[in-house]
Amino acid sequence: MATWNELFERGESIARFPEREVQEFVSLLERRFTERPLRIWDLCCGAGRHTVAMAARGHEICASDIAAHGITLTEAQLSEFGLSARTAVADMTECPWPGATFHGVVSWDSLHHNTLENILTALHAVHKRLDVGGLLMVTLKSTRADSFGMGTEIEPGTFVQDSGREAGVPHHYFDESGIRAALDRWTLLALVELRSDYVERCPGFLDVNPFRYTAWGVLAEK
Ligand SMILES: C[S@@+](CC[C@H](N)C(=O)[O-])C[C@H]1O[C@@H](n2cnc3c(N)ncnc32)[C@H](O)[C@@H]1O
Repeated sequence: MATWNELFERGESIARFPEREVQEFVSLLERRFTERPLRIWDLCCGAGRHTVAMAARGHEICASDIAAHGITLTEAQLSEFGLSARTAVADMTECPWPGATFHGVVSWDSLHHNTLENILTALHAVHKRLDVGGLLMVTLKSTRADSFGMGTEIEPGTFVQDSGREAGVPHHYFDESGIRAALDRWTLLALVELRSDYVERCPGFLDVNPFRYTAWGVLAEK
């Protein structure tokens, strides 16, 4: 069973370029808050593509991930570009910087890698650390995602795949009511299902598919 740390050590599942939506999110925070630098938490930062992109815009970035090798890659990229950020190996259920507060938190393609209870704990930890009016941008797998139902269901809606790139990694899938319940303490500014409707799928599709899976895009305010 591969852990994220092992995937990163093998050079697998490393996304290199920032998502356009994350850049838009930073622009939105820049319009919303006059304080500079903005304080932004990249929760489950992976190999650091968004940490680097946001630090390059002059903001104070905190980046955490459970995979130590992800943090090593993040630090290497930061130093390559002459940038800095606070980094920590930490589980998504905790904020590893005592007393830190944020204008924004971004968690791209990550929080669904857990049981529902832990995802809710993570969302609670984010809520506690956001300034009032602060924003969360998160993507979460939809029950309409390509891999929904694959592997072993370890609790309702949470599957661990038995084979492929992400064998051993849990995925929780949200339907609309599930996502609304998970975010019930937030003001939803946008809840978007980012749809991919596959017409053809080869055997071993998940290992070759370069396109997005169907996910919820959430922009929420504290
Ligand atoms: C698909 S990657 C996305 C990384 C990054 N957000 C990006 O967009 O490039 C998922 C990330 O979630 C992290 N992750 C998975 N489970 C975690 C947990 N329990 N606590 C913290 N990070 C976790 C993995 O280590 C991995 O870096």
